[in-house]
Amino acid sequence: MDVSRSPALGTLTPMLVAEVSVNDLHTRLGISTPIDYPIESLTKPLTNWKMEIDDAPIFRYLYRNLRPQRHLEFGTWQGTGVRYCLEECDATVWTINLLAGEVQADNTWRYSNWKDTIASRLFQWARKRAHYAPNWVRGRVRLPQGLLVYQSDSIGSIGKFYLEAGLGHRVCQIYCDSRDWDISNYPAGFFDSVLIDGGHTTDVVTSDTFKACQVVRPGGIVMWHDFCPLPEVQRPDGMGSGVLRAIENLWPRLCREMSDIFWIRPSWILIGIKR
Ligand SMILES: C[S@@+](CC[C@H](N)C(=O)[O-])C[C@H]1O[C@@H](n2cnc3c(N)ncnc32)[C@H](O)[C@@H]1O
Repeated sequence: MDVSRSPALGTLTPMLVAEVSVNDLHTRLGISTPIDYPIESLTKPLTNWKMEIDDAPIFRYLYRNLRPQRHLEFGTWQGTGVRYCLEECDATVWTINLLAGEVQADNTWRYSNWKDTIASRLFQWARKRAHYAPNWVRGRVRLPQGLLVYQSDSIGSIGKFYLEAGLGHRVCQIYCDSRDWDISNYPAGFFDSVLIDGGHTTDVVTSDTFKACQVVRPGGIVMWHDFCPLPEVQRPDGMGSGVLRAIENLWPRLCREMSDIFWIRPSWILIGIKR
């Protein structure tokens, strides 16, 4: 993978983010084959965007063409994004998630799903944990009346899709708050690519970005998910605002550290190429 031939960034005023049309992505990254991007996504409002439908072809295209050997993903959840990388290239993936999942300020789970969406065996297991585990699981459960849900980003659900696809042997799953993740044992430039898609608060994105910049190699790629620079576009779940604020705060530094940085239009993806 070598994207160091991307055009130089030049001087940018704060947060004047360059835009690259998804159909010009190949030119910007020096890839010979253009993306075969679904026409329906091109015309869909970004507020109706679904990562699995609309951003997935872009992630898959990037992994397929840039072919990282060592990829890092902040925020595993059920392993959808990790699976894209594993299926499109031969990478080994390091990925980080909170063991007990993300809990919001009002003590509700940020990521949960209806019972019927998982195998009953896994639900039984999750429920057993909720009954017998200490407060960090049981105390934070808030079940809507009459509905059974499970927390989809904790313990056994973390990475379930890459495990179910039989790809677990290519994944180093790290369980911690990414702000506590110690990068001192990773040589500078160890990773070819990084996806920042863990905690979406400004402090977590800031911390993940600092770490990503240290461990990605020159010419490697850093991707931020849930980034959109258009002021009129707000995600209904509010997840973009912390990302936007972190990027805004870090913008002068990112312009120094990246040889190119741009938003892919239309998408929720910001891309930086490490200088
Ligand atoms: C948007 S989801 C990740 C989606 C995933 N990248 C994918 O492609 O399917 C965010 C994940 O980050 C995790 N997370 C939130 N804050 C975190 C933190 N401080 N450290 C590590 N993981 C965190 C959440 O538990 C959740 O699983």
